Amino acid sequence: MRALITASLIAIAAASSVPVLAAPAFVPLPANATAHPALWPAAHSVGLVDAKTEAFVTSLMKQMSLREKVGQMIQGDIASVKPKELREYPLGSVLGGGNSPPLSGNDRGPVGDWIKTAEAFRQVSIEKRPGHVPIPTIFGMDSVHGNSNVFGATIFPHNIGLGAMRDPALMEKIGAATAQESAASGFDWAFGPTVTVPQDDRWGRTYEGYSERPDITKLYSAAMVRGLQGAPGTGRIQNGKVAASIKHFLADGGTHNGIDQGDAQIDEKTLIETHAPGYISGIDAGAMTVMASFSSWNGVKNHGNKSLLTDVLKGRLGFEGFVVGDWNAHGQVPGCTTADCPQSFNAGLDMAMVPSDWKALFDNTLKEVQDGTIPMARVDDAVRRILRVKVKLGLFDPARPYEQKNILGSPEHRAIARQAVAESLVLLKNNNALLPIRPGQKVLVTGTHADDIGMQTGGWTLSWQGTGNTNADFPGATSIWGGLKSAIEAAGGTATLSRDGKVTGAKPDVAVVVFGETPYAEMVGDISTLEFQPGDKQALAELKALKAQGIPVVSVFISGRPLWVNPELNQSDAFVAAFLPGSEGEGVADVLVAKKDGTPNKDFRGKLSYSWPKTAGQFANNVGQPGYDPLFAYGYGLTYADHKTIPQLSEVAGVDASLANISVYYVPGKAVAPWKLGSDGAVTEKNVDGGGKQEGARQYAFTGAGHVRVSGPSIDLTRQTNAQLSLRIDYRVDTAPKGKVTLSVGDQATPVDATSLFAAATPGQWTSVKLPLACFKAAGADVGHVTQPFVLGGDAGFTVSIVGVKLDTDPAGAVCPGAPAAK
Ligand code: BGC
Ligand code: BGC
Repeated sequence: MRALITASLIAIAAASSVPVLAAPAFVPLPANATAHPALWPAAHSVGLVDAKTEAFVTSLMKQMSLREKVGQMIQGDIASVKPKELREYPLGSVLGGGNSPPLSGNDRGPVGDWIKTAEAFRQVSIEKRPGHVPIPTIFGMDSVHGNSNVFGATIFPHNIGLGAMRDPALMEKIGAATAQESAASGFDWAFGPTVTVPQDDRWGRTYEGYSERPDITKLYSAAMVRGLQGAPGTGRIQNGKVAASIKHFLADGGTHNGIDQGDAQIDEKTLIETHAPGYISGIDAGAMTVMASFSSWNGVKNHGNKSLLTDVLKGRLGFEGFVVGDWNAHGQVPGCTTADCPQSFNAGLDMAMVPSDWKALFDNTLKEVQDGTIPMARVDDAVRRILRVKVKLGLFDPARPYEQKNILGSPEHRAIARQAVAESLVLLKNNNALLPIRPGQKVLVTGTHADDIGMQTGGWTLSWQGTGNTNADFPGATSIWGGLKSAIEAAGGTATLSRDGKVTGAKPDVAVVVFGETPYAEMVGDISTLEFQPGDKQALAELKALKAQGIPVVSVFISGRPLWVNPELNQSDAFVAAFLPGSEGEGVADVLVAKKDGTPNKDFRGKLSYSWPKTAGQFANNVGQPGYDPLFAYGYGLTYADHKTIPQLSEVAGVDASLANISVYYVPGKAVAPWKLGSDGAVTEKNVDGGGKQEGARQYAFTGAGHVRVSGPSIDLTRQTNAQLSLRIDYRVDTAPKGKVTLSVGDQATPVDATSLFAAATPGQWTSVKLPLACFKAAGADVGHVTQPFVLGGDAGFTVSIVGVKLDTDPAGAVCPGAPAAK
């Protein structure tokens, strides 16, 4: 709780701060946030610096104006920069954010749309025009599990599953395939690998880490860097290599309570021993870039911590590539805004990721170099590092683009992904040797995730959060059901997919139930307990129904972290942790289904790289810690040779499940704990049908002034507001408003006037609207302390039915109606 408050205070301080005009006073870092480089193991960039490259960079820098140098230090997002704007603002880089489509606007379009986008920026940057030194842009993307933003790409398992494989050689192949598919899409740079070492499984980015221990991460970081970039100093874009970015420096996975962008309250020894190894091995492997973390170390934002970015990273660890910032993260440094932050550049940031405020940051940074706030030597150091990477990557070569048709989702790459899926599965339970599925067996396949590639790919897939993707979004991919069906039939059995779990016809020999978490990314995935489906145990109900019919059950669990699933384990004869396997669902059947002769096709190889919790309250229960007492220990994973029986497990969660939910307030038919939906004033209410459910909606008739409210505990929505989340309302206007209708988040000084919105809705028709949280903040909502995430105000004559209220992560189509209404 304390950390929650601290984190929100820091965020509020950052958000409300004013631009710094004069040189900021030198504020020494607190002692416990000052690193001591001598304590750290030494490392050194390999392959980045050579005389020829440095001489070329020197000659370029001699010709560059200050404006052009500052431009190299700024990266905008393709959704907010037009290629021609680079003529006035010569930015060194652009990125494609998780929700940013190519310039065609179609993010499910052909790869050519991405290549055209990359070329549009590159061509302006290398134009010959007076006063301009042609320097190609470097285009970065979150290719974090394959070239995962591009339609048709091979999607590899997320890192948590890869950690379970313990196979660095395969990691290098995955890196090489990812690089080829990224380069063939026009991208120069992958924002990966993530070498975080998550310590608290409630963190929404747990799945981005290979392991809770640094050992695997250390090996994998080097393997991925080699795969993406090639041997140190050799990788060039023309050969299908891209720059890697090891992230997020440092201890993003060590924040207190697992809060995303929070504060790592740890000593320097832990920083070095737990969180740094992936950087050391990645730098030694020649990593061209390092991404700084949003998070803080002992209260100091890493983006402003010179002792970490400069003294440790560039000093002791000998890093000679460049440090890129995270998404507007510099704006969180006290005294900074997203548009102005000399502190961060002075601390050692070389390139700021500033998606939309790039113009203002450019102008302010230029001024600050001119007035000496940012020393010229610092600028020259940053620019040299950036140009060095561009040269080494081959971006200056006339034969720049990597031309490779048909490499996206190629059979070779899919085969690598399929192998990774098979190797990553961890067998938690196999009582009475229910697995493998025997030849000739009659198999029922069911569960929410059985035939849903969107579920098995998770976050950071085609969009930031990866929500709403359907099988049609993954041409060439296979669902887990698809793989099971082929393998079962090939072994002479029969497979039936039942979407609702109902058994029709003869009783199956075995049921495979595929279920788990739904996609999320970053802070949206932060949870407050490790209980799976708190308060709403849908999967458990399905398992119980099958067991009641005497059908043996195999559970395949899709998740981005270990979760407390004791009730589900008890209802399963066999239980497989499949993590987030990606686009090649056949890899699951490769292990689960025996060959025609009855012997296993492939055995289980996966071993847990995270400890599995015994209660929903074992958030941070990591190997090596005092009192370590997991349900399944780090390294656990059965094979077909093991004959172990897992007994009945305790079903006491050990925590209050209602604390877990800050984003879903109302779903058809009910408010979701801990939230309540109610009204006050002159409002009458009753249940009506809606959301495909009998009595799925609540109807409110205003006979005078009144409110409809969602209320509950105080929650902090600061990060959700910054990340452009919106409040989504699914509703139907039954009688158009005669008076004013307002919306607000909590006790806002000036509610948002939503009259026109509700007046424009066709009475009798279900519809939905998304209102950016930022819109409520601008109208005075205290987003840091929200006890009522939804307040609808109305007056006599208005009737509305509500079927859903929740936070939505996709900014597309969100509107901020009207100006704030007078109270
Ligand atoms: C994430 C990074 C990511 C960047 C660009 C940030 O919010 O923290 O991991 O690379 O966005 O999408
Ligand atoms: C972007 C992501 C980014 C996130 C940061 C999203 O809108 O698409 O790339 O990581 O914001 O909060």
